[in-house]
Amino acid sequence: MNKQQAIQRIVELIKEIKFHNRQYYILDKPLISDEHYDVLYRELVDLEKTYPKLVLPNSPTQRVGDKVSGDFAKITHSKRRMSLEDAFSNLELKEFENRLNKLIGNKRYEYICEPKIDGLQIVLTYKNGLLITAATRGDGRVGEDVTHTVKTIRDIPIKLAKAVDVVVSGEIYISKTDFAKINRDQVRLKEPIYANPRNLAAGTVRQLDPKVASVRNLKSFVYDIEGDINSKTQLDMLQILSVLGFSVNPDNKLCKDLDEVLEFIKEWDKKRDKLFYGTDGVVIKINQIDIRNILGSTAKSPRWAIAYKFPAEQKETQILDIEVQVGRQGTLTPVAILKSVRLAGSTVSRATLHNEDEIKRKDVRIGDTVIVQKAGDIIPEVVLVLKDKRSKNSRKFEMPGICTVCKSKIIKKPGEVAHRCSNAQCFVVQLRKLEHFVSRKAFNIDGLGKKIVEQLYKEGLIKDFADFFTLEKGDIQPLERFAEKSATNLIEAIQKSRVVTLDRFIYSLGILHVGDQTARDIVKVFNTWNKFIGASQEELEIIDGVGEKVAKSIIDFLHNKDNQLLMKKLFKNGVSIRESKLSISNKLAGKTFVVTGSLLSMSREETEAKVRSLGGKISSSVSKNTDYVIAGDNPGSKYNKAKQLGVKIITESEFQNLLK
Ligand code: IVH
Repeated sequence: MNKQQAIQRIVELIKEIKFHNRQYYILDKPLISDEHYDVLYRELVDLEKTYPKLVLPNSPTQRVGDKVSGDFAKITHSKRRMSLEDAFSNLELKEFENRLNKLIGNKRYEYICEPKIDGLQIVLTYKNGLLITAATRGDGRVGEDVTHTVKTIRDIPIKLAKAVDVVVSGEIYISKTDFAKINRDQVRLKEPIYANPRNLAAGTVRQLDPKVASVRNLKSFVYDIEGDINSKTQLDMLQILSVLGFSVNPDNKLCKDLDEVLEFIKEWDKKRDKLFYGTDGVVIKINQIDIRNILGSTAKSPRWAIAYKFPAEQKETQILDIEVQVGRQGTLTPVAILKSVRLAGSTVSRATLHNEDEIKRKDVRIGDTVIVQKAGDIIPEVVLVLKDKRSKNSRKFEMPGICTVCKSKIIKKPGEVAHRCSNAQCFVVQLRKLEHFVSRKAFNIDGLGKKIVEQLYKEGLIKDFADFFTLEKGDIQPLERFAEKSATNLIEAIQKSRVVTLDRFIYSLGILHVGDQTARDIVKVFNTWNKFIGASQEELEIIDGVGEKVAKSIIDFLHNKDNQLLMKKLFKNGVSIRESKLSISNKLAGKTFVVTGSLLSMSREETEAKVRSLGGKISSSVSKNTDYVIAGDNPGSKYNKAKQLGVKIITESEFQNLLK
């Protein structure tokens, strides 16, 4: 192929690929298979590699450019990017209309309703029909230059159908299915989960490396254009945007009066769960541009538009109890324990009551029937009490005088609403206990890292470690970094961990001086829970590895009323103790093992547990006291050390033989 032929073919390929991009990304009607598309795309990439001077600026391959280094450049918007006033009821919409009518007299106008897309606003500047910059809204005056990532969004044209100078604005979003898929991958990669599609879309656009954005399938809906165009109405604008090659929401609708607007809102409130994109309301705009110009804007928002926010879903349920959560600053937050209820797509069993004043103001009592809702569709809260359903047995709640965690005094400073624990370390103490409980050597709950435990604790979802076992998917899903799948995974991991061996159970309680080895030493002698809690201090003291100090600490712990309640609660919440094999066989008694390299038949933890269950000990380093080094694939320095010291090195299958 000579250069002339290459130019011709490149132009043909660009046209063809762009045609198919439009069919796929904008019209949602692909005409060729993905494989066929890839062949065309590859051919273009190869030609451009051979003839780098022929890489045209509008080539689809130019969507993924180079990484941006350092911070994003700032872009000053050509005009102030405003936000919209919110409306939460039909009445507020009526008031909006009354205001309009007062200002414009009896001029006739129509409305246009557009679903409010749950994404992030983007401002696209085109010169001669070519995309020059893409900027975030920022503070309304200055945004961030995100051209490099926005260029990867296939439904945003790099070259328009006409060579015009325009500024287009719209919303970038990620579909609900893509959001779920990305979070599934995050779980697989053991990376944090994105809280919601909006955050993921914003986080993706604000990446320095456009490669990330290019694989995330971001999408857009645009709704505004200024510059070299002539439009008399919003409807014209949407039509022009479509002709220029943009993606315009097909669900936008012209409404001739407010009744039609209310009808539209009602319809989409019902249907919104089924849409492929997230929406939290409806944007209502006056269709006629000349009327908009008469109305102008306030300091913050245009007078000709308003954003109606869908109401939070509400449900009736009962308050079973009120617990107190101690926050990082020692603040006590009362939390209502609810009879589980489905709310906005998930099950919830707890709701914040904010503080004592709130409880008094709403007159919330334990046993009350209440209305709950998710504030901002995320955090469940108690809205009001249904007083006519109050039973005689309902109980008033009182803030505790001493801290439920550390027993220090609770104080309330004059003029403050919050009650606080007077011990500055209180939150940390409790958090450490919870982290210990789920850790690898204790309940070993997959996916419950320190950050998540802290989040659950801060949100009031867990107060003590028995609470892990009553968590529901709907409690976790609204939290940052969680989505439906990750919440399901965590609940499953918690359920799976319910049955533990006695030594793990004892270790997890966090008894002072009782580490994992001591717990195992105890279980070799007292091999059931009842035998353990029935043991006297003297009986405990004579256990190998348990002295007077440790025995006393165990007895103190077991005699403490709060601890007794907590253990009762653990069993009530479904925790059970599997018979521990520690005392049954002593085949490896007195032998110390070190594991190195990766094992095939068992995980390292299983191997270690096996050694321990047969009376052996596990050590993390090789010394002359080591009896065996079990060497798997790619053993590390421990292998060489064992060789040096003459310690016996055995393979995995030799270890299996030892067990027989
Ligand atoms: S019009 C000056 N239309 O909602 C008015 N906004 O405060 C410009 N949004 O952050 C906005 N969907 O990003 C408009 N169809 C739509 C929208 C929409 C979502 C966002 C926008 C803005 C917020 C309104």
